[in-house]
Amino acid sequence: MKKRITFNLNGKPVAIDAEGERKLIWVLRVDFGLTGTKYGCGESFCGACTVIVNGYAERSCQLNIQNVQDKDVITIEGLLNGDKLHPLQKAFMDNDALQCGYCTPGMILNAFSFLNKHPDPSIQEIKTGMENNLCRCGAHKRIIEAVQSASKEMKGVH
Ligand code: FES
Ligand code: FES
Repeated sequence: MKKRITFNLNGKPVAIDAEGERKLIWVLRVDFGLTGTKYGCGESFCGACTVIVNGYAERSCQLNIQNVQDKDVITIEGLLNGDKLHPLQKAFMDNDALQCGYCTPGMILNAFSFLNKHPDPSIQEIKTGMENNLCRCGAHKRIIEAVQSASKEMKGVH
């Protein structure tokens, strides 16, 4: 049975009538047209579907929409500040930290959550913090460099 779910999406309150078990990824992509959130494995392995929920990276392919009731959800689209790229988005571009780009939104949002908790990480900490997000194109080295570069830029920026 459908129920009304309300939450904040990229800083704005939204409401949707949905089956409570519907996965967040499909609400974002289909109902709200936020196709930056990517579907990869659908089984919690790859991290392509990562979004931020109440400050933490979550896999939206696993998250029932009823579980985001009254929470704050941020997608890759929500990192933009007007026309201005978030430091992480810019660092990924500047460091050429992508090839096909399919993993990139999830990588950036996982890094966003990681850097909020580790504002001055070592390379090893970045590797550990990012290791559960997969990149089939093998851009990991440049991804690590991008996260390190953004970490310097982001101190005090959230
Ligand atoms: S699509 Fe969600 S973890 Fe792979
Ligand atoms: S850039 Fe292609 S999967 Fe990562």
